[in-house]
Amino acid sequence: MRYTLHDLRRFAATRKLASLTCYDASFAGVLEDAGIDILLVGDSLGMVIQGHSSTLAVTLGDVAYHTRAVARRTRTAWIIADLPFGSYQASPEQALRNAVELMQAGADMVKLEGGEEMAATVAFLVARGVPVCGHVGLTPQHVQTLGGYRIQGKDAAGAERVLAGARAIQDAGADMLVVEAVPQALAERIVAQRRALIIGIGASSGCDGQVLVLHDMLGITPGKRPRFVKDFLADGGSIPTAVRRYVEAVRSGAFPGPEHVYLDEH
Ligand code: KIV
Repeated sequence: MRYTLHDLRRFAATRKLASLTCYDASFAGVLEDAGIDILLVGDSLGMVIQGHSSTLAVTLGDVAYHTRAVARRTRTAWIIADLPFGSYQASPEQALRNAVELMQAGADMVKLEGGEEMAATVAFLVARGVPVCGHVGLTPQHVQTLGGYRIQGKDAAGAERVLAGARAIQDAGADMLVVEAVPQALAERIVAQRRALIIGIGASSGCDGQVLVLHDMLGITPGKRPRFVKDFLADGGSIPTAVRRYVEAVRSGAFPGPEHVYLDEH
């Protein structure tokens, strides 16, 4: 049986939730055997699977294809599928149509990026039976308007914007929220006011759980590694061992350490 949101909230009451991105059936099996709680079929697949320089080229069909592959092998983990760029911003009705396609492909929840401007869409989806995970802070689908992959919420106005977005998405009914690449102090303000499960990536060890891109934590993504990435395969061993070490480090709160968060940016 797949975990339910109720199970995830129960786990989070006593330990941190471990999540990784996953794009195929083989890795779904490896990650689940290592004890992963949440599999994210992220639009990062545009970069790590398809070789693009951003997530913008990913289509709904791409995410549905990878979601089907992951879902076929998944027995327990909660599956989140990303609504890709351009598949939900036009109207709540567009978002619902495309969220339904991802849930019919096997997702338990859909994720969308954005703050206050997406709150009405989140409320529309939740009211119609679609569990939603928000995504604030560094939102990779906004890479062109953000001017690159930069830490967000560094100044007072930016921090208030991220905080207001996090609040609006949760007030609209999102059950989960990814907070990416913000100063630790800001992440902790979001956690202190939370109504949803907060999953950090470059945020704070105080979040309810952590997520990383699978290829990043296996050290096989080319180029400069963001501060929040740790290569769990670097010490040798095997992929299953690396994933098990990641799950243990997240559950115990050992990852992220101070070297993986933005300590003094704000
Ligand atoms: O697509 C993705 O992999 C993500 C994570 C970075 C959270 O959204």
